[in-house]
Amino acid sequence: MPAVRAIHSSDRGGRASRLVDALLDDGYRNLTVLDLSKAALAASRERLGLCGETVTWVAADVTTWGPSEHYGVWHDRAAFHFLTDEKDRHAYVLRLEQALREGGEAIIGTFALNGPERCSGLPMMRYDSSGLTAVLGPKFRLLASREAERRTPWGASQVFQFSRFSFSLAQSYVVCSGSEKARRQTVNMSASGPERQSRDEADISRTGRDRRF
Ligand SMILES: C[S@@+](CC[C@H](N)C(=O)[O-])C[C@H]1O[C@@H](n2cnc3c(N)ncnc32)[C@H](O)[C@@H]1O
Repeated sequence: MPAVRAIHSSDRGGRASRLVDALLDDGYRNLTVLDLSKAALAASRERLGLCGETVTWVAADVTTWGPSEHYGVWHDRAAFHFLTDEKDRHAYVLRLEQALREGGEAIIGTFALNGPERCSGLPMMRYDSSGLTAVLGPKFRLLASREAERRTPWGASQVFQFSRFSFSLAQSYVVCSGSEKARRQTVNMSASGPERQSRDEADISRTGRDRRF
């Protein structure tokens, strides 16, 4: 039986994804579903009935949540693009790095560059795979990306991009090792300077190790 420890943001309302249902049907266990909304979690849990008892349900803000274990897969459809504040994106990426095991994968679906600018009255971030890669930083290697159009229940079109990344702490060693010149090139390649720098500093204070060099 497959045993991938996976984390996913919950379904919402009637336009819910059925990812957790499908994973359970396929025999996956060790699933964790995280969402800010207790109501969204309760709806998913109720829909799943007894099968839902095997899932770990976490009501938390992903930007302040403290992961207590390591996951093989992180799946986020339509949560990350709500983070319009750079500090929140930085906090999300830190949690993602803390939550994934070495070699784990993140699949992140957001509105594409030609997707909606607002959703539920809120401003949204929009990404293509290279923009998302830049925000995640050098510990994430892009494996694949594709666009998908979704129709809302009221018939509007929403274009998403889905990108899949592999996570490795070692990648930051490989990419960033070497000379001062190589280090500067790496910093330039990664997310915007201050965003990358503050994330590295937070990482150093958390782990006590400077992996940038
Ligand atoms: C558009 S819904 C997508 C739900 C589901 N992933 C899907 O694809 O159907 C966005 C979900 O992200 C959750 N969310 C937004 N900001 C969040 C945050 N900071 N932490 C955790 N969940 C968040 C919302 O509560 C909502 O359930």
